[in-house]
Amino acid sequence: MVATTPLVPAEATEAATLRVTAKQRQADDVLTLELASPSGGRLRDWTPGSHVDLVLPNGLTRQYSLCGDRWDPHTYRVGVLLEPGSRGGSRYVHEHLQVGDLVGVGGPRNNFPLVPSEEYLFVAGGIGITPILPMLRQAELLGAEWRLLYGGRRRGSMAFLDELAPYGERVVVRPEDEYGLLDLAGFLGAPREGARVYACGPSPLLAALERACADWPPYTLRTERFVAEEGGTPVRTAPFEVELARTGTTLTVTPDVSVLEALNRIGVEVLSSCRRGVCGTCETTVLAGRPDHRDALLDDDERDANDCMYVCVSRSRDERLVLDL
Ligand code: FES
Repeated sequence: MVATTPLVPAEATEAATLRVTAKQRQADDVLTLELASPSGGRLRDWTPGSHVDLVLPNGLTRQYSLCGDRWDPHTYRVGVLLEPGSRGGSRYVHEHLQVGDLVGVGGPRNNFPLVPSEEYLFVAGGIGITPILPMLRQAELLGAEWRLLYGGRRRGSMAFLDELAPYGERVVVRPEDEYGLLDLAGFLGAPREGARVYACGPSPLLAALERACADWPPYTLRTERFVAEEGGTPVRTAPFEVELARTGTTLTVTPDVSVLEALNRIGVEVLSSCRRGVCGTCETTVLAGRPDHRDALLDDDERDANDCMYVCVSRSRDERLVLDL
């Protein structure tokens, strides 16, 4: 089995300025942007599952999965769904961003890497197809067995059907208005060793997949969410202390501020981007204490390890956390 290419380091966060070179409709409310260096130079390498931060001319920053050809060193492609409740990110892209405009691009960063396997089962819901698309090409390249189950509200709302058509029967397209809810159990089949399930889509789909994969071997299912789940009430509603191991500084985090905000207030800069627990930029090493994880990035085993946290949203279960800052 050939291994996947090593990941691009996570510290690649400084934004580059790229030009929009194409803007193309892919489905109802879905378009793609192609981005290239104004100088024509090479872009940073990336691996399937990566996303970039788009710093839009209106000042907003949004994360989008790369869905183009990873072997094209000069072009990034992202897919953008017009969100009904858009706060100005996707709406700006759809209605105002034009070919020729300049945008800031941070990353790429990969929180959803494709690990080596001989069999992949991909499940995509709606715009969740974007990180999956380059994975299919990678699986092909590796000679792995793979199949994709792709759901959406209507056929007309499902992007990239033309690009998926050449894969034939390995791609199962299931618009909900024609087929109803996805038959996850039928698609997955019986639990087996060695297979990996990669899924991206809305929370109800991912929750259903977690239930469907409950009897599969550990680490089989890997997911990427569009937004962090509602975390509910924090485990601790009282203030807690955060000790910074490198300086010995201790600060108190009150319920009305995030750890990130509390750090910023005393002049400790931690890189951040989404501030919603979805991009991975603010990952911080935990040396002691148990975080109250409220991000959309870590799986259950990673959470139980208690060795890192995303300080923009996660808090503390204990009275004291010690961070490697
Ligand atoms: S800033 Fe994006 S996960 Fe914290």
